[in-house]
Amino acid sequence: MSTIGFIGGGNMAGSLIGGLLNAGYTASDMMISEPDEARRQALKERYRINTCGDNTDTLGCDIIILAVKPQLLKMICSQLAQASDGNGHKQPLFISIAAGVRSTDIDRWLGQNHAIVRCMPNTPALLQCGASGLFANESVNNIQKQQAEKILQAVGSVVWVDDEDQLNAVTAVSGSGPAYFFLMMEAMQQAGEALGLSHDVAQHLVLQTALGAARMATESDISPEELRRRVTSKGGTTEQAILSFQSADFQQVVLDALKAANDRSISLADELGSD
Ligand SMILES: NC(=O)c1ccc[n+]([C@@H]2O[C@H](COP(=O)([O-])OP(=O)(O)OC[C@H]3O[C@@H](n4cnc5c(N)ncnc54)[C@H](OP(=O)(O)O)[C@@H]3O)[C@@H](O)[C@H]2O)c1
Repeated sequence: MSTIGFIGGGNMAGSLIGGLLNAGYTASDMMISEPDEARRQALKERYRINTCGDNTDTLGCDIIILAVKPQLLKMICSQLAQASDGNGHKQPLFISIAAGVRSTDIDRWLGQNHAIVRCMPNTPALLQCGASGLFANESVNNIQKQQAEKILQAVGSVVWVDDEDQLNAVTAVSGSGPAYFFLMMEAMQQAGEALGLSHDVAQHLVLQTALGAARMATESDISPEELRRRVTSKGGTTEQAILSFQSADFQQVVLDALKAANDRSISLADELGSD
């Protein structure tokens, strides 16, 4: 089995390790580099994996997962490039889960022509229920693509995009997406309370409805549009609510919001990748 090194032992790395162990990966095939000693110890105790405090110790691994904050990526890649310069290490596959940093920038910081998969996961990955968009640069071979896909599948579902720019749209849809659903839940809960329900009752009904609707949409072949039609009877209560949403141009509101997220993703990548 391929060896996997993690750089950064935070929430996402912990989720990935938990998911990989559940999926049958072996703890001894993984190592994690994390500067904080207490966190290192906690990871070691929880997952029984090898830990280190020096990022360059991961250089012997087949796959290196960059799981640090985006702002740190340049410094860490330069550190790895310096340490691997002429020391005979095999070329690993790099998987970056850092939001907003382009593979071309990572490649330049690492010293050119590296196999890099860039990934945009989302927060439900912490419950192994995430959705990730993946992009592979031209140095990634088919075996490495499968390896990256299997790793990210340990925390949820995976889709590939052929054009790295599409990761901005992935960010707008699924990367930031959980927050839009939280906003909808928040608004529905407030409305339920305004209509006379207690906080707890309104919250319970909203959360269970969100879960039930998500399950209906994901566990059947019927589109959300058709599911909505089926529960919207002529002259009924749901129809009145949908008409009210439509009169406020709900679809346009959502389109504008996702365009704003998409544009911010592009400007963040410009900022993070500037030298
Ligand atoms: N969480 C999500 O749902 C999510 C979704 C999409 C994308 N991402 C991306 O995933 C990446 C990691 O996110 P996260 O939520 O796991 O963040 P996090 O919990 O802050 O984890 C980052 C880890 O990196 C460590 N670190 C700091 N400096 C380091 C260094 N020089 N070398 C090695 N490790 C270092 C941090 O240690 P200290 O705490 O001691 O500083 C921390 O444990 C981010 O780039 C984020 O954009 C996360």
